[in-house]
Amino acid sequence: MKSFLKKISVLLLAAALLSGCGSRNSAQTAEDFIEENEEQADDIITVGFSQLGAESDWRSANTDSMMSAFTEDSGYNLIYKNGQQKQANQITAIRTFIQQEVDYIVLAPATESGWDTVLSEAREAGIPVILVDRRVNASDKNLFSCWVGSDFELEGRKVAAWIKAFTEAKDIAPEELHIVNIQGNLGSSAQIGRTRGLANAARENGWDLMAEVSGDFTETKGRETMAALLKRFDNVNVVYCENDNMAIGAIDALESAGKTVGSNIAKGEVMVVSFDGVNEKALEYAREGKISCIAECNPLHGPRVRALIEALRSGESPQKFNYVDEKLFSSLNDVSGVMIDGMEYNVENP
Ligand code: AHR
Repeated sequence: MKSFLKKISVLLLAAALLSGCGSRNSAQTAEDFIEENEEQADDIITVGFSQLGAESDWRSANTDSMMSAFTEDSGYNLIYKNGQQKQANQITAIRTFIQQEVDYIVLAPATESGWDTVLSEAREAGIPVILVDRRVNASDKNLFSCWVGSDFELEGRKVAAWIKAFTEAKDIAPEELHIVNIQGNLGSSAQIGRTRGLANAARENGWDLMAEVSGDFTETKGRETMAALLKRFDNVNVVYCENDNMAIGAIDALESAGKTVGSNIAKGEVMVVSFDGVNEKALEYAREGKISCIAECNPLHGPRVRALIEALRSGESPQKFNYVDEKLFSSLNDVSGVMIDGMEYNVENP
């Protein structure tokens, strides 16, 4: 935004010169004024933030976190653009940020592929790009400075490990698990990782993974997708929802179809498991046992992105990939923790 601020300074200079009728003293005052302003302008960091959309409570919490971390009081000018779930909108936003000569670009990409061209344009303009939340599968890792977000596959593995431990504790045979996966937006890192976590566990454990269908991370699509799945299958007893908003919609559809939602699979209940742990209604469902297990996905990335930008500004090279620690929630007492790759993850109350 440097050029924009300089334009303002020039306008102020013109105004000062005109009001002072060009006298030597007033011209000097105007010059001092501009010099001071330029110094201040150099201190303000302009960040262009391309958020992918507003599809879930997680996303709203993430946007709020970014807004609170990059305030004018803390020396930032944040330009926020909502991509409305469309990569084309996000590409346009990045090109606008380049034209505006922002100091940094922060990108929360909707999907992983298709970013090479626009990220090359940012690199040619000398603007560092920080990725947040999801990732891109760029051909050249130097097209972005660093990334901060969740290990989505680990989240999926945690929920799958919890299902395995819980059903073993209840003596439910693996082949008795008839699972449907209501996926997030296809091609997004969150969908790819969580889908992989379940698919691998289903193959390894001999679970019947009957269908994988996208519900776009929204409550409405979660409800529609669940209703459609109930028409295709009459034996669903585990619903793996790739976020809480879809779980809320799916529970609504299950209850409307006369099903009881809960963990007592042997008695015909349908178990729902989910991700995020942000939405208050989903947390309440988890306390009531309507959602059996939630893998936390932490949205509070604003201060983390700011720390990365501050590290880059002071000439440091932050880690390329920065993972956040996340918890596993369940109000059922049968499983106290799960082990993954030698690491124990405790199960906490939601
Ligand atoms: O990328 C993070 C995921 O995106 C969250 O789990 C989901 O709720 C959001 O829409």
